[in-house]
Amino acid sequence: IAIRLEDYRPPDWLVDTVHLDIDLHPTEARVIATLKMRPNPDADGARAIVLDGDELKLSRITLDGKTLDPRAYVATPERLTIPRPPSGPITLEIETLLNPSTNTQLMGLYQSNGIYCTQCEAEGFRRITYFPDRPDVMAVYTTRIEADKAAAPILLANGNMTESGDIDNGRHFAVWHDPFPKPSYLFAMVGGDLAFIEDTFRTMSGRDVALKIYVEHGKAHLCDYAMDSLKRSMRWDEEVFGREYDLDIFMIVAVADFNMGAMENKGLNIFNDKYVLASPETATDADYASIEAIVAHEYFHNWTGNRITCRDWFQLCLKEGLTVFRDQEFSADQRSAALERIGDVRNLRAIQFTEDSGPLAHPVRPSMYREINNFYTPTIYEKGAEIIRMLRVMIGREDFRRGMDLYFDRHDGDAATIEQFIACFAEASKRDLTHFSQWYSQAGTPHVAAEGQWNAEAKTYRLDLVQNTLPTPGQPSKEPQVIPLAVALFDEQGRAMKTDEHLIVLDRASQSVEFRNIKSRPVLSINREFSAPIVLRTNATEEDTQVLAAHDTDSFNRWQAIQTLAMKWLVAHVRGAEANTAAPLLDALKNVLADRKLAPAFVAQALAMPTEGDIAGEIAKNVDPDAIFRARKALRGTLSEELRASLQAAYDTYAASRGPFNPDAKSAGERALKNAALDLLAANGDAKAIALAARQFADADNMTDRMAALAALMPHDIPEREQAFKALYDRFENDPLVIDKWLTMQAMVPEAATFDRIKALTEHKAFSFKNPNRVRALIGAFAGNPSQFNRPDGAGYRYLTETAVAIDPQNPQLAARLMGAFKTWRRLEPGRAAAAEAALKAVAKAPNLSRDLADIVGRALAAP
Ligand code: ARG
Ligand code: ZN
Repeated sequence: IAIRLEDYRPPDWLVDTVHLDIDLHPTEARVIATLKMRPNPDADGARAIVLDGDELKLSRITLDGKTLDPRAYVATPERLTIPRPPSGPITLEIETLLNPSTNTQLMGLYQSNGIYCTQCEAEGFRRITYFPDRPDVMAVYTTRIEADKAAAPILLANGNMTESGDIDNGRHFAVWHDPFPKPSYLFAMVGGDLAFIEDTFRTMSGRDVALKIYVEHGKAHLCDYAMDSLKRSMRWDEEVFGREYDLDIFMIVAVADFNMGAMENKGLNIFNDKYVLASPETATDADYASIEAIVAHEYFHNWTGNRITCRDWFQLCLKEGLTVFRDQEFSADQRSAALERIGDVRNLRAIQFTEDSGPLAHPVRPSMYREINNFYTPTIYEKGAEIIRMLRVMIGREDFRRGMDLYFDRHDGDAATIEQFIACFAEASKRDLTHFSQWYSQAGTPHVAAEGQWNAEAKTYRLDLVQNTLPTPGQPSKEPQVIPLAVALFDEQGRAMKTDEHLIVLDRASQSVEFRNIKSRPVLSINREFSAPIVLRTNATEEDTQVLAAHDTDSFNRWQAIQTLAMKWLVAHVRGAEANTAAPLLDALKNVLADRKLAPAFVAQALAMPTEGDIAGEIAKNVDPDAIFRARKALRGTLSEELRASLQAAYDTYAASRGPFNPDAKSAGERALKNAALDLLAANGDAKAIALAARQFADADNMTDRMAALAALMPHDIPEREQAFKALYDRFENDPLVIDKWLTMQAMVPEAATFDRIKALTEHKAFSFKNPNRVRALIGAFAGNPSQFNRPDGAGYRYLTETAVAIDPQNPQLAARLMGAFKTWRRLEPGRAAAAEAALKAVAKAPNLSRDLADIVGRALAAP
């Protein structure tokens, strides 16, 4: 069934308080929920009580203390209905029985390596007890947990602990109270035998907050970076957004079995191990950066998500887009704003632009869904963040901050909507943001053509702008969007012209802007800092692009210019122009490699050529992944030969400067450049470079250098690669997070034999279809290996769909996520497209599909 935005109705009944009494047991956990409910004064119509459930078993129900007559209610696993309740406030007591040990969906209450934990967003609370499981029902929760003290000495829930103690038979209990009303999706509890580290944070108003990070025994020494990230996040949110933490304690629990990255449950964040645990020996610089970003993200949700939540799930971007924006800003401040932007845009193009141009495209605020879990997408998160960033560009930083303050002030405690959010910025900036808001409702990435014409006599420069958005499912025709374009002009020597930076707001299908007093032919730098999430075409000459690659004062556009030179070569090569010259790109890269003023991390980004996915996106139609692979390989080979001396010099410079490992941005940037140089040096399989990579692999004292060396060996079918795979396994076989890297790297090998290697690895004792991290590391990475997943024989597609169907009964969310690999199938050349379609149709015919999987497959196959 389809859930529609326009069908929203306020809840008939409100819940003021929830008292949960949870008796933990691996197979027979008992939950008694006491709900104080009253009719919603703002609702009209039917007053029946209808509570959500999911696979629930009701064992007892009372209303105002009296056992409810069986004729007075209907209980199914999915619903508890009381058709004719009293007309005033009531107390319901509902007892359900759960089996955490068989809960393989990892939604509701489940066990991860023997630890009881919960995941309730979006609709998991209904797997614990019958409840109006919707975010606009906000209640104050008190949670009493009882368990065997030996099995679960640690008992945690949201809020502050108010009581704890021993009871007979080796059992004990703890009571937690969360004074902040919250929706059910933010409920959490944990019980288990856990190690922890602790610290404290003094808030800006002088309150001391206890900070704890809980992990499995033997892992406590891996939590320091997460704790440090947490403290920096708390300080940053005070300084930049004026947001202070509100409970006496903030807890993070890391578990091994988790469907997503992490969850912002009030006061008790639950994390995937992968985003907490780190040591130089086991985590790469990229892992450290993700830990910092995700710890911040979940912490920032305390205000953008928890204190102000969403009225319904259509508003998901209200908390997710905004919180991604906030974590990106945090990372930019902690590290480098320019590098953060380059990384964020690379990611946006890779995961969101691809979604937005294919069958799974949807608006940032969808108007219909069948399964909400399928909408935790790059569009909601990453494009949602881009809208906030554009808003700030449009109204300026000061009005943006005033709008945020107004939002926090006005909506604290609310379950809010996008309209309410935007209204705060309209008020703070005194602007009409109606048209701008269309970014939330219209899907698809706008294409903008910018053509400049310099008139030497009139000394004017005219910029003609045209925008167009292609149709997306359910939206055959599109309106012009409001597109803020930051613009600067340079002269042909790369000197900034006096018109400085300028903001053009393109809000019609086409529009022209004229710059006056332009005495020489200008070079246009447009969409600086990627001010709008668009696909851009300009009439720049290759020489113009070279000027920007050498001189643009905006680091993002300087990087972009280098990518543009590379992309031009790549696309020409894919289209058969094998002899086209790479000279402009080579010049630009030589330049960058020689420029001592540039941050090493920037140089590393400049050396990282567009990915196969980037190239496929650029080509957009009739995509042949093998031709793309060959073109990219050829380009990297050319760079390897032509830049050898400067690459070797860059490698030597930063290989020499080795001290004790430091995960900070500067050291990470130096490692990034050294490793980008190594990667290109080895691109052709040159014997000296392979020996260098093999030596780095063997000698590395940290995982960044070890994995970079392995990545440099990985594309080559050589004994050194297999020896490295074996050495990595032998050394880290007991560390699942490193095993994931081992699996992923093997899944990425661009050779036909990879397919058999994958199948063999699924039988390996280190692999398990039950753990989402393992599945994503192996199967998910294979789906991201463009040349091998897209084998012309279609075996890759069939393998992925068969795997998804096999996982579906156990974990529908995991199965549906794997199918995300099909979001680009329609752009493939006809042979592969037919094979992908056949594989999808076979899934559609399989019996008993979960709603998650059926929804994804249905949309992937729907007529374009
Ligand atoms: N709110 C979490 C986050 O962004 C993600 C939870 C997603 N859960 C799900 N079942 N889809 O941080
Ligand atoms: Zn989030």
